[in-house]
Amino acid sequence: MNEPDWLVENDGHCHCLDTITPEKEQFSPYRLYRFLTDLENILDTIKDDYLRLRKIVPLVRQLLNDSPWLLLSMLEPNPTTGWDIMTLYDEPSFPLTIQLVAWKQGTISPIHNHGCWGLVALLSGVEKNRFWKRSPQPNLPDQIQEVGEQILTVGDILCFMPSAIHQIEAMGNEPTISFNLYGETDFDSRYEFDPIQGTAQNF
Ligand SMILES: [Fe+2]
Repeated sequence: MNEPDWLVENDGHCHCLDTITPEKEQFSPYRLYRFLTDLENILDTIKDDYLRLRKIVPLVRQLLNDSPWLLLSMLEPNPTTGWDIMTLYDEPSFPLTIQLVAWKQGTISPIHNHGCWGLVALLSGVEKNRFWKRSPQPNLPDQIQEVGEQILTVGDILCFMPSAIHQIEAMGNEPTISFNLYGETDFDSRYEFDPIQGTAQNF
């Protein structure tokens, strides 16, 4: 795949990510357990989230190329909530979460950050991401200001730094399905934002 890779900085600025090609070729097929091992090695040896993501993205692309079973999951959004999650990997005391996430078309998420590095690879549908930065005012320390947006189509990968603030909207005529990967969450710095009230709440 030659689709673009994107990164959203902590200030909401979104730009192309300059990924780092692995030094050695991956075993083929590149199965989930091999990906997890490589991921653990990267997280153990690299502490900078930006550098981690530059190395992780090519591995995710290899995994997705070699894992057509992910699209056979038939994950569908819950008709009541508009979304659903299938956990692919989540081990206690191991700081990684891997999920498939489905959003019903027309559904809009809260405005939020994740409090950890993250990565979303779109497998189906069209997803609009809007980005904000913090813009503290004397009486509203959690006020935010919109800074841009990015439309994701199938094959796009969007990475987040821990404080990047975004909101997603499932566009088009079909649900979105994405492969989501998150690092260890700092729950004290994970918020949902209300730009009308100028407030933020931990979640
Ligand atoms: Fe998010």
